[in-house]
Amino acid sequence: MIELKNVSKKYRNGTHALHDVSLKVNDGEFIYIMGPTGSGKSTLIKLLDGEEVPTSGSVLVSGINVGRLKKSKVYLYRRKIGVVFQDYRLLPEKTVFENVAYALEILDMPDEKIRKRVREVLKLVDLADKSNAKPNELSGGQQQRTAIARAIAKKPTILIADEPTGNLDPDMTNEMINLLEKINREEKTTLVVVTHNDVMVENHPKRTIRIEAGHIVTDRMPEPKKEESEVEQTEVEEEPVVSETAVETVEEEAYSEGEVS
Ligand SMILES: Nc1ncnc2c1ncn2[C@@H]1O[C@H](COP(=O)(O)OP(=O)(O)OP(=O)(O)O)[C@@H](O)[C@H]1O
Ligand SMILES: [Mg+2]
Repeated sequence: MIELKNVSKKYRNGTHALHDVSLKVNDGEFIYIMGPTGSGKSTLIKLLDGEEVPTSGSVLVSGINVGRLKKSKVYLYRRKIGVVFQDYRLLPEKTVFENVAYALEILDMPDEKIRKRVREVLKLVDLADKSNAKPNELSGGQQQRTAIARAIAKKPTILIADEPTGNLDPDMTNEMINLLEKINREEKTTLVVVTHNDVMVENHPKRTIRIEAGHIVTDRMPEPKKEESEVEQTEVEEEPVVSETAVETVEEEAYSEGEVS
């Protein structure tokens, strides 16, 4: 679980990026973080992955007080979380396979296990046929999927993605969100996705936290789909299903209350 309690963040230059933010995200949830530029979204992410520490309040992730971790322990904590940066940050000299494998090599995982897991995640992100390509031989969407494969290879409990659809066309955006949903479903990973993409949020509704000027201004669960409630209503109007026993009960009650003469 992620829990922020009364978190404020003031940068050294005096910018107050977050004010008294409190938030709980359960294991396995998929949430969007939205808000205008400069509102504090990336700051929130940096507090979650231990890049920044809160000025006050606490950031707890799976029971770990992230803001209190010693610098030397942050890398151990980061094994639990995967971050996909907007600019991918792939190693240009390494192939897709090697980029993903690298994330596991630094965990001292045995080679054979690494190869197995890399093949598994490349299949998951549909890049098995690009294993030997270098990043500059890939499309933007493929580079982004490589970055996702790298972030999830270590089986993080949380995957954080900052604007994962920022550079993608509508078709690729759709593929990307489908992929994130698949990771959430199949790997049981908690997803925190920062986005400006209203269309995506509308088509794939999820709990959405909106930040403005460092404050959480709304935290909404998705509304039930319109079509479904309309279907229900139509069904009720067309075919009122009232059993005879129900009618009798209503009549009996009406009699006993003296409403029917
Ligand atoms: N390292 C830093 N030092 C000082 N101020 C910073 C630092 N990083 C961010 N800020 C400031 O904190 C505020 C919030 O920035 P943040 O990067 O969290 O915004 P954001 O919501 O991610 O914006 P965007 O949508 O443009 O990515 C901004 O006013 C920004 O200028
Ligand atoms: Mg940002």
